[in-house]
Amino acid sequence: MTAQLSKKSEAWSARFSEPVSDLVKRYTASVFFDKRLAQVDIQGSLAHAEMLAHQKIISQDDHAAIQRGMAQIKEEIESGKFEWLLDLEDVHLNIEKRLTELAGDAGKRLHTGRSRNDQVATDIRLYIRGEIDNIVGLLRDLRLALLDLAEQHAETILPGFTHLQVAQPITFGHHILAYVEMFGRDAERMLDARKRVNRLPLGAAALAGTTFPIDRERVAKTLGFEDVCHNSLDAVSDRDFAIEFCAAAALIMTHVSRMSEELVIWMSPRVGFIDIADRFCTGSSIMPQKKNPDVPELARGKTGRVNGHVIALLTLMKGQPLAYNKDNQEDKEPLFDTVDTVVDTLRIFADMARGITVKPETMRAAALQGYATATDLADYLVKKGLPFRDAHEAVAHAVRVCVDRNCDLSDLTLEEMRVFSTLIEADIFEVLTLEGSVAARNHVGGTAPQQVRASIARIRALLT
Ligand code: ARG
Repeated sequence: MTAQLSKKSEAWSARFSEPVSDLVKRYTASVFFDKRLAQVDIQGSLAHAEMLAHQKIISQDDHAAIQRGMAQIKEEIESGKFEWLLDLEDVHLNIEKRLTELAGDAGKRLHTGRSRNDQVATDIRLYIRGEIDNIVGLLRDLRLALLDLAEQHAETILPGFTHLQVAQPITFGHHILAYVEMFGRDAERMLDARKRVNRLPLGAAALAGTTFPIDRERVAKTLGFEDVCHNSLDAVSDRDFAIEFCAAAALIMTHVSRMSEELVIWMSPRVGFIDIADRFCTGSSIMPQKKNPDVPELARGKTGRVNGHVIALLTLMKGQPLAYNKDNQEDKEPLFDTVDTVVDTLRIFADMARGITVKPETMRAAALQGYATATDLADYLVKKGLPFRDAHEAVAHAVRVCVDRNCDLSDLTLEEMRVFSTLIEADIFEVLTLEGSVAARNHVGGTAPQQVRASIARIRALLT
């Protein structure tokens, strides 16, 4: 516990005849976790105070006193000297109380025309906006690291899978670029959500607006919001923007989790496609030979809780009548945990991507098993005039023979192949090579090394 339970009992006001019990105080307090909003809370308060002074709702002297007090509070918080009190419930009341100690009546005037309801909504929006920008930057770092990996392996061949069965040969660069695309959409989604996050609730006050001649546009401008929230009830009560952010974060984790699953499979000694640098793995306390891919496994596991936070927030919202209800205080822990999990995961994955060693020989050997070029043989026959369904059937017969003989399609002689179709000629052997197969898929979005390089160049240009 980082906040102290103070002895003095802080009843709400003259309205109350007895103080709340310690148990209720603990139950309703949020300061342990919402003190994370301290910096944005001060930022919001300063913008509000500046507007109050500009509108002559408070004096210039009061404004100056508030500025001085807040500067000191900021310093106290940064240096760890600030005393957080559970009695003061949340970050807002803790800071306001300290401001009043430092600035006297000016501190007491800060809350004019404002409520904690519009204050907290503003804080969360400022906080999420900052984290979106952070996460978009981290996604960029991860994509750049993956682009490097893809570039090194634009020509490295591995089997592509469907149903986890060998399907067709692909290039490893192409495979990695699939994740680069996913993380690119994740960044787009974050930036799209940002537009709806970036609107100012302040001015809504408790729920109905305020009787003071405030200037909301001025505050919005100071805080870098693109617009104000246009309905006071909506402004203080809805958290859809936080849900949207968490949903976008859950998709990031889902993509990370899919990649993790592959890294784990690829690193299994049974597969042996890659190795992950020791610093991302751990051993076993009993089996000395083990090297486990803990980081991807843990990321896959952590995806569960981020997905859970989306459901938590949706459920938090669904039964609330307008306008603000205390339920909303419960938005913070899922939100903060989402941010922490996504930020740490993206950071570690960008680093880990640079610690992946690819084993091209193992990948190639795997691609040679499983008749990965069977589709190429079928396409060859189609190009010679056979309808695709007939070509499919002819190749199925050929594969059947190879399975019985335990050999590859390219191990058959020309005569043996012509049993399945007389359209097959000597040029078939070129078609059946892994290199021929991937190089032939040379169109936008295809696996050919040339396309991989073009994609890398295109995405790099967007990122730099
Ligand atoms: N700690 C509260 C929250 O997180 C701040 C708003 C409290 N407003 C109220 N009317 N009790 O939502």
